Amino acid sequence: MKNKLLLGSSNKGKLNEIKFYLKYFSIYLDFDLITTKELNNFGEPIEDALTFQENAEIKSQYYFNLTGHATISDDSGFIIDDMGNYPGVKTARVAKKLGSEQNVMNDIFSKFGNISHLNATFFCAVSLVTDNKKYNCLGKVKGKMISQGIGNNGFGYDPYFIPEQSEKTFAEMQSDEKLKASHRFQAFKILSSQI
Ligand code: IMP
Repeated sequence: MKNKLLLGSSNKGKLNEIKFYLKYFSIYLDFDLITTKELNNFGEPIEDALTFQENAEIKSQYYFNLTGHATISDDSGFIIDDMGNYPGVKTARVAKKLGSEQNVMNDIFSKFGNISHLNATFFCAVSLVTDNKKYNCLGKVKGKMISQGIGNNGFGYDPYFIPEQSEKTFAEMQSDEKLKASHRFQAFKILSSQI
């Protein structure tokens, strides 16, 4: 029987991308992939740390401790250059609190007067915890957030983020293009060079 690699996320958009990167970078190809949806009554880790890296490791360690399976998790989000570390590790939480990504953008842009974009950086920390090793890799992509979403592809804040050297939002790109332009690509690239 093959060993199992647990993907410590229930976010469909993220899971699809993580599966792509595992293949693309030939990471743990001989393992059977399972997700947290296949675990019953395992609850959820409390992501209360102040950095993406710490939160990613909290997730991987939590599911590894419960299952004993090698676990890979990502913690991601964006930071507006002129807002300290905001929303940062709270990127998912503010969308939940305000009801949608568009509401988050409305709230952020309301603090800056009449402008249509803000410089920002998207981050992705990937943590892999196995029975004898731990990895933690941070990928980032600079760009800008725009106040009104454009494009229908992708997930989450994809319609609002235009990476440097592009004129398209992540949500306007074809899936292949976004997958190679993203913060998650950078994090998995670093991980693949370490294992
Ligand atoms: P996490 O699941 O706690 O890591 O939260 C990640 C947050 O950042 C969620 O609100 C996601 O929608 C958002 N996010 C992370 N990566 C991406 C991406 O590649 N595109 C768009 N939104 C993203």
